[in-house]
Amino acid sequence: MKYIKVFITIMVTAAFINVQAQESYLVEKDIAVFYPPNFDAAQTLPSVAVIHPLDNKGTLPKSWKMIPQFKLSGGKSIMEMRYDEGTDLYGTGEVTGSLRRNDKNITLWNTDNGLYLQHNGDRLYQSHPWILGVRADGSAFGILADNTWKQEVKLTQPISIVSEGPAFRVIVIEKKSPQEVVKALAQLTGTLELPPMWALGYQQSRFSYYPQGQVQEIADNFRSKKIPLDVIWMDINYMDNFKIFTFDSNGYADPKGLNKYLHSKSVKSVYMIDPGVKKEAGYKVYDQGQAGNHWVADKNGQPFVGKVWPEACVFPDFTNPKTRTWWSGLYKDFMALGIDGVWNDMNEPSVFNGPDGSMPADNKHTGGDGLAAGPHLRYHNIFGMMMVKATREGILAANPDKRPFVLSRSNFIGGQRYAATWTGDNASKFDYLKTSIPMSINLGLSGQPFSGPDIGGFDGDCDAKLFSQWIAVGAYYPFCRNHTTTGSAAQEPWAYGTEVENISRNAINRRYRLLPYLYTLFREASQSGMPVMRPVFFADTKNKALRSEDQAFLLGGDLLVIPRWAEKTQLPQGNWVNVPFEDTDDGQQAIVKIRPGAIVPLGNVVQSTEEYAPKEITLLLNPDEKGNVYGEFYDDAKDGFGYKTGDFVLIKFEGKVKAGKVSVKVKQAEGKRKIAPRYRIGLVTKTGIKYSSWQEGDTVTL
Ligand code: GLC
Repeated sequence: MKYIKVFITIMVTAAFINVQAQESYLVEKDIAVFYPPNFDAAQTLPSVAVIHPLDNKGTLPKSWKMIPQFKLSGGKSIMEMRYDEGTDLYGTGEVTGSLRRNDKNITLWNTDNGLYLQHNGDRLYQSHPWILGVRADGSAFGILADNTWKQEVKLTQPISIVSEGPAFRVIVIEKKSPQEVVKALAQLTGTLELPPMWALGYQQSRFSYYPQGQVQEIADNFRSKKIPLDVIWMDINYMDNFKIFTFDSNGYADPKGLNKYLHSKSVKSVYMIDPGVKKEAGYKVYDQGQAGNHWVADKNGQPFVGKVWPEACVFPDFTNPKTRTWWSGLYKDFMALGIDGVWNDMNEPSVFNGPDGSMPADNKHTGGDGLAAGPHLRYHNIFGMMMVKATREGILAANPDKRPFVLSRSNFIGGQRYAATWTGDNASKFDYLKTSIPMSINLGLSGQPFSGPDIGGFDGDCDAKLFSQWIAVGAYYPFCRNHTTTGSAAQEPWAYGTEVENISRNAINRRYRLLPYLYTLFREASQSGMPVMRPVFFADTKNKALRSEDQAFLLGGDLLVIPRWAEKTQLPQGNWVNVPFEDTDDGQQAIVKIRPGAIVPLGNVVQSTEEYAPKEITLLLNPDEKGNVYGEFYDDAKDGFGYKTGDFVLIKFEGKVKAGKVSVKVKQAEGKRKIAPRYRIGLVTKTGIKYSSWQEGDTVTL
């Protein structure tokens, strides 16, 4: 392949050593890669973010606008890129603040940043060296720095990325719309694998339910109160002295029995595993790691020791493939206890007595699989990502017929391939509810569709009003889990009396009714990388007024969620109408609107996804100006991998409203799975909803 050299002359100032030349070529249509001339591949490649080698597919067209300039200054490697005035910037993953990220200055150095208080909230648990720009005319670009080293992303004019490591390559995407850019990012960095359906259900957690009998009571309460529930989470207190892969002999003497009990109630269990391994001779995990030489080393080559929950800990070096294999293997016996999913926390890694709450930047990693040995400064940001890669492989090997579910606090761009995420330690305060929305939206715009905050807030006591506001909106987060810290007030949906309990039940019922739609969205995310939770401006990318809207959000392309507390929202034009769910409107619920032209498949209320079966599907429908409506519905076995060999069904609905009569054609478009739901139409209008009878066959009418 012939590399095309583009020579760019940059003004040389005393402070900078400017780079005169770079290599660039197209890797796909509208996707280009730029290499600085002083590029040393061993320092940043093989890429952990990008899933395919970037082959040269031709010269950049002359019209190509977005060209990075590379500089070296004071030992730092810099990339700068100018963009059109009037461009709105997004992406950059998990950062606090508004949806629009212009003028932000973000340091990518994964940090255990409790309550987001340090560094102005601009540096949290994950790193996404990725910027999405949407120009005034709706056209869009993406910039991906293929670099794991500690770096700063400055969203100024020009955009600059300042790395503390060697020169790095930059990938630029140029498309007609932000949606196309997000899909191109997925082409480069992969998509999430379809999760088991239970991971889409409502989940209950706290630090920590203890002893295990309390977990059973919680499960019983959900069932007797008829509040749907899919998962209960086991936080660190289940362990013996916070030693991972052990159980406390008093409180959690029979985890197998607990999981069996939960399963008998159609509840799944997720258990926490942190990376810090207690330094204690005689403790199996420590002894094995010691014998296998699995620990991250300090600058002198000795195992690095730092303090986390179990006090003195050592840390697996997840850059080393042998260490990952060992780590994966630890899950076999663990999962055999009937554990359904794994929660990897503290994996920035968090080190209580370390510099900046983590490891020294000159700690040493072994690398492997092509990755060179290198300092923590290079590998810090992918510590969590490499950990969850190994965890995922481990639980898949333990249960080869089940879809793995891993939740991770730390991650790196591309990490959606291995784990879902929650946004760390927030607080039970209204501001945290508010910022959770732009945070999850921007995670979606950065490749991670499966995220959500601790509903109700982690730190402090949540009050009745805040909880009802939070659950009302939280029911629509892609990841829907209520979690709180140790010692805080009870935060289960019934903890605030009957009124809030009813509000919670209504909100969670709505989520379960939406399962056919939600599951279809996750399937779409797994195929194309389109986020589940989307910014309102996706409804009309040319309408500049929508670009800052971050109280309301889109769930998929067809539903708009507007929190009751939202003020001065900017909403898309057209006849979006309120969906009148069949529950009481208690004034706290979020408003949900359906797009003109959409068909949204709804199920009936069930108490868990295990109970869910597509027997009766309501086709919620709002015709566009021409009377047309369209929608899709995906279904499969809810777990396992049969869907990969055709055991799924994608149904397409196409309808027309003419002279007040609605007719919808039902067509199995893809897949071999046979389902024969009864359908009814639910025509949504400004004055309410009109239902047809339940009907069978391939045409439904009203
Ligand atoms: C961290 C996690 C939190 C968890 C706690 C105890 O703070 O972010 O979710 O409850 O550790 O494991």
